[in-house]
Amino acid sequence: MNKVNHVAIIMDGNGRWALKRNKPRNFGHQEGLKNISSLIDFAKKNKIKFLTLFVFSLDNWKRSKREVNFLFNLLEKFLDKNINELIKKKIKIKSIGERKNLSKKLINKIKKVEKLSSVNYDITVNLAFNYSSKTEIIESLKKSIKQKAKITVDTIKNNLYTKNIPDPELLIRTGGKNRLSDFMLWQMSYTEIFFLNKLWPDFNKNDFKKILREYQKIKRNFGSIDD
Ligand code: IPE
Ligand code: IPE
Ligand code: MG
Repeated sequence: MNKVNHVAIIMDGNGRWALKRNKPRNFGHQEGLKNISSLIDFAKKNKIKFLTLFVFSLDNWKRSKREVNFLFNLLEKFLDKNINELIKKKIKIKSIGERKNLSKKLINKIKKVEKLSSVNYDITVNLAFNYSSKTEIIESLKKSIKQKAKITVDTIKNNLYTKNIPDPELLIRTGGKNRLSDFMLWQMSYTEIFFLNKLWPDFNKNDFKKILREYQKIKRNFGSIDD
């Protein structure tokens, strides 16, 4: 058995999903969000300990103000609406990403949710929000230098947002693009990557199940050779 502790997901394709239906892009984001709760439940049922969702990249600021505002509001509403349910279901929420450029209101909300959900939990859901992997690595190096630490794999790792989290065994990217878009570059050196053509609002538990099954067939080498 290949144990799966950590799954990372690039939830891509919301905009195209909506445009295909002659709807505004933001409609796709709203639909995409509906997917999340049942996928968290599925991950929890399958004893996955960490689920990292790419929600908003630092580069997504390049989009229209209208779309950016919509995405921020969606996150806030999601946290407001679901906090009690998340706690009840033993789901811990953690945010990873840059805090600067975020409103005080949102930062406080995130902190509150992180604190309330951190008491009794079976799964941690990392929301990668305002996230850039390159920035994360630069910040880690700056911290390591400040600590006057010797630069090693461990010091860099221990100063990343994901310091106490195992590297993902699996990355899933929906939306038909075969790229990482500045997501967890350090953490994914040996991650098994599944690129799917399906657009994010169409992704479901069955797709997730199939990927977990495929993953079981993989022999991971980490640089060694098959025995
Ligand atoms: C992913 O869907 C969600 C975010 C980046 C916030 P997109 O908005 O990138 O959808 P497409 O790729 O344009 O269809
Ligand atoms: C990656 O998707 C970011 C998120 C899913 C949050 P993008 O749609 O922003 O990536 P690119 O621009 O196609 O590489
Ligand atoms: Mg996209």
